[in-house]
Amino acid sequence: MDASILKTLIEEAIAARRSSYSPYSGFKVGAALLAQNGDTFTGCNIEISGHTATCCAERTAIFKAVSQGITSFTAIAVVGGPGDALIDSCFPCGVCRQALAEFCGEDFIVIVAESADKWRKFSLNDLLPHRFSEKKS
Ligand code: THU
Repeated sequence: MDASILKTLIEEAIAARRSSYSPYSGFKVGAALLAQNGDTFTGCNIEISGHTATCCAERTAIFKAVSQGITSFTAIAVVGGPGDALIDSCFPCGVCRQALAEFCGEDFIVIVAESADKWRKFSLNDLLPHRFSEKKS
């Protein structure tokens, strides 16, 4: 995938992070999910008192897309950190990895970014090998 597309995706994740609702942790996360049709769906983390109902940025983006009938994706960019800072290793949590695996293949690209110029690229299989699936392979 073209590096400029990934850079734009990271910038969209950084912008989405501004909407993070994280009064309990102060840790703000943004995600930008690129669909196969070229559309982008963004998400931020949304924290709920009691924590169980909290939704991560990645799942916010996935649920937005799927709720609009889009279920095929090529890549996601994720950024996060405390306050205004971005850390270099804001990886999708285990639950979000499984949620991505519901819709994305092993070669789906996961970009973990610290800035639009500093990022690392993984495949979903790197992050979630031996995924659980009820589907027959
Ligand atoms: N968080 C995400 O948004 N995505 C992840 O993959 C990991 C964690 C959020 C959840 C919570 O609001 C905050 O980061 C601190 O755990």
